[in-house]
Amino acid sequence: MKYLVTGGAGFIGSNLVDALIERGHEVAVIDNLVTGKKENVNTRAVFYQADITDLGQIEPLFKGIDGVFHVAAVARIQPSFENPDLYFRTNALGTRNVLAAAKKHGVKKVVYSASSSAYGETPLPADEAAKITSQSLHPYGSTKRMGEMLMSDLGTMTGGPKTACLRYFNVYGPRQTMDSDGPYPTVIGLFLGLKKKGKPLLIVPDGNQRRDFTWVGDVANANILAMESDKVGNAEIINIGSGKNYSIWDVARAVLEAPQATPEELIASGKCSYAPQRKGEVRETLANNSKARELIGWEPKMNFFDGIKKLLEI
Ligand SMILES: NC(=O)c1ccc[n+]([C@@H]2O[C@H](COP(=O)([O-])OP(=O)(O)OC[C@H]3O[C@@H](n4cnc5c(N)ncnc54)[C@H](O)[C@@H]3O)[C@@H](O)[C@H]2O)c1
Repeated sequence: MKYLVTGGAGFIGSNLVDALIERGHEVAVIDNLVTGKKENVNTRAVFYQADITDLGQIEPLFKGIDGVFHVAAVARIQPSFENPDLYFRTNALGTRNVLAAAKKHGVKKVVYSASSSAYGETPLPADEAAKITSQSLHPYGSTKRMGEMLMSDLGTMTGGPKTACLRYFNVYGPRQTMDSDGPYPTVIGLFLGLKKKGKPLLIVPDGNQRRDFTWVGDVANANILAMESDKVGNAEIINIGSGKNYSIWDVARAVLEAPQATPEELIASGKCSYAPQRKGEVRETLANNSKARELIGWEPKMNFFDGIKKLLEI
């Protein structure tokens, strides 16, 4: 098949491109390199430096494409408070442009990288049927939710492509950013980066928040299953999360390879230090992943501790 991956120079997109090429597909990548890097892109993929906010620029690149994985987005929570307009342009208008170009060229399916941040505070484990409150926690979360709505409105309902929305939960793995200013810095990447620099791991605010961490290879696999499954095509929302969660202290212990250390010991030794709370972050995330198992036959394969071990070896 001939697939197009938007955001294919970024963390998740580039891992997805590798997985598609490994399975023998032809892949084209669209990325404006705002956070992505050209060197992340598999040399067997065709790369176009283009911006999804410019329909005229991207539209011809959809010719002859069977399926699109729409991964591109501005993907950090904190800067969305300072520059919400960029988030609306990229994550909402850009998504509309991807769907318009896909419709024009008769693309069969678009699989959208949605986000669990659309839930805000929700009863756990988060269920796709949960009511999303109109009051979002941040412009990033609302614009990712808008993308899901566009997958419905501009999909088969209005003669567009089949669509599916995969709500990822804290993705980690190779090529994740390790820099606090980098794209979507998640705690595992930040801790690995701080450890490499010999700096204390920053615990925000008390380390007892819990996150459902999902290995990027499992996320790539979910995308391919959703693209290939006949059971999805009508903007179904599907959680892609491991179904287990770990505290920030668990991450610190795993990264520092100190499985028995208590928080008090890690602070006293200077290996960790406290940092103030940030706006817009939920206390805990945890996916109910039964819909992914039923609809697309997905199951998470990577165990959290094995995943961290793998990253420590890179
Ligand atoms: N990383 C996570 O834990 C996580 C969790 C939930 C959802 N997501 C979603 O997954 C997707 C990928 O996230 P990521 O962590 O790989 O982030 P990333 O920043 O590494 O990847 C996003 C890519 O999109 C590109 N891009 C941004 N704006 C663009 C534009 N206007 N035109 C073309 N390309 C553009 C960037 O250059 C980058 O390569 C995003 O849609 C994000 O919302 C990520």
